[in-house]
Amino acid sequence: AGPCDIYASGGTPCVAAHSSTRALFSAYTGPLYSVTRGSDGTTTNINALSAGGVANAAAQDSFCARTTCVITEIFDQSGKGNHLTQAPPGGFNGPASGGFDNLAAATGAPVTLNGQKAYGVFISPGTGYRNDATNGIATGDAAEGFYAVLDGTHFNNGCCFDYGNAETSAHDTGAGHMEAIYFGTETTWGIGTGNGPWIMADLENGLFSGSNAKLNSGDPTITDRFLTAVVKGEANNWEIRGGNAQSGALTTFWSGVRPSGYNPMHKEGALILGIGGDNSNSAQGTFYEGVVTSGFPSDATENSVQANIVAAKYATTSMVSGPAVAVGSTVSLRATTACCTTRYIAHTGATVNTQIITSSNSTAIKQSASWTVVAGLGNSACVSFESRDTPGSYIRHINFVLMVNADDGTKQMHEDATFCPQAGLNGQGNTIQAWGYPTRAFRHFSNVGYIASNGGPDTFDATALYNDDVSFVVGAAFA
Ligand code: AHR
Ligand code: AHR
Repeated sequence: AGPCDIYASGGTPCVAAHSSTRALFSAYTGPLYSVTRGSDGTTTNINALSAGGVANAAAQDSFCARTTCVITEIFDQSGKGNHLTQAPPGGFNGPASGGFDNLAAATGAPVTLNGQKAYGVFISPGTGYRNDATNGIATGDAAEGFYAVLDGTHFNNGCCFDYGNAETSAHDTGAGHMEAIYFGTETTWGIGTGNGPWIMADLENGLFSGSNAKLNSGDPTITDRFLTAVVKGEANNWEIRGGNAQSGALTTFWSGVRPSGYNPMHKEGALILGIGGDNSNSAQGTFYEGVVTSGFPSDATENSVQANIVAAKYATTSMVSGPAVAVGSTVSLRATTACCTTRYIAHTGATVNTQIITSSNSTAIKQSASWTVVAGLGNSACVSFESRDTPGSYIRHINFVLMVNADDGTKQMHEDATFCPQAGLNGQGNTIQAWGYPTRAFRHFSNVGYIASNGGPDTFDATALYNDDVSFVVGAAFA
């Protein structure tokens, strides 16, 4: 049985079921999600390998070979048609054309389930999915439940990495107009114990860890690499539950009455992923699977769902591909675009650029184009590039421009300095994907360094020459 078969037996059927990693009904054979590639703009559906099975990641890999791919749509497996697509502008605009949010990179969150490769939905700030015209989702004070499997190491303090029920207008229409799982370290409203991240509920005009506006000491910091988050609500009663998605049981972190001002609820029934109800889009996180039920699921039903998730055996897998970029090595990074094949990634002060470097340059110039590869400051499955001439300083991005900055110890610096080398998009060397923005990679543009997407709002996102500009041959360091 799949999670939604378990909910159905419990009398609280799934009215939306989303996953890019596996089918959530044992009989489901339809598409899980679709991807659109940069090379020709075409879209294909990715199905499960078998009824109830894991996604066909190989189909994605072959469709997306030598180009970029984004997740265009996450299909609802429940039969209700509650698919998630690129979120439209609302109270806040997204960064994409027309004020829409960005779509997630198709390869940002590789994992395995029972040893089979699949991809999660890696939400960078600015990314979001939504459905404002749903069918069968709770409205008003009606009961519903949610679970989601998330990456407990990918979060931030922005508003709001949510999955659940929100406003149909994408605007903030007031307290009680949302009911969604939230995960992260946003502290404006509720908090739990420790430094976070916490599972909370986004009920609109506030994230809640219980019925108190601020601290609820039953809601712990939870950082499991794979975690199960549960929120459910019925008339003047709601719960937060959670646990490790790889082992063990769920624990109830909150069970009780609604916060003051939230009884009754005024749910509107739109669905969101990765954003707040008003399209606030500064949060980040990773989503693997989740559902919305009709009715208030019993703890016993959810406990069976948790056992099913554990049995799916989520595990990490390699975050890199292409030629090895070995930790401990000292390297140069040579451009491969026809204009620039004698240029290497270098820096002048904080500015990252490309320069023509030869054996006759001074040691200082050679060192400016030489980098020590270290374990990724923000994720050790990827790498960071430490400056040879300025130890303790690393290549990072800020507003998508590459810089060389001293490590100030912050989470932001560490994540901005973390890159996951992939096989070069033009067939040469490596494409140096930004861990936190996997739609983006090192690019030289007018001889300056950026993290660029293949088409996007900035001039350095130009599609012309993209594959060449993001492919670098990693060789021995000059000095
Ligand atoms: O409730 C927290 C957030 O506040 C909601 O997600 C958003 O709509 C509002 O900005
Ligand atoms: O470069 C993109 C983002 O811009 C970085 O993550 C952050 O440091 C800045 O806001």
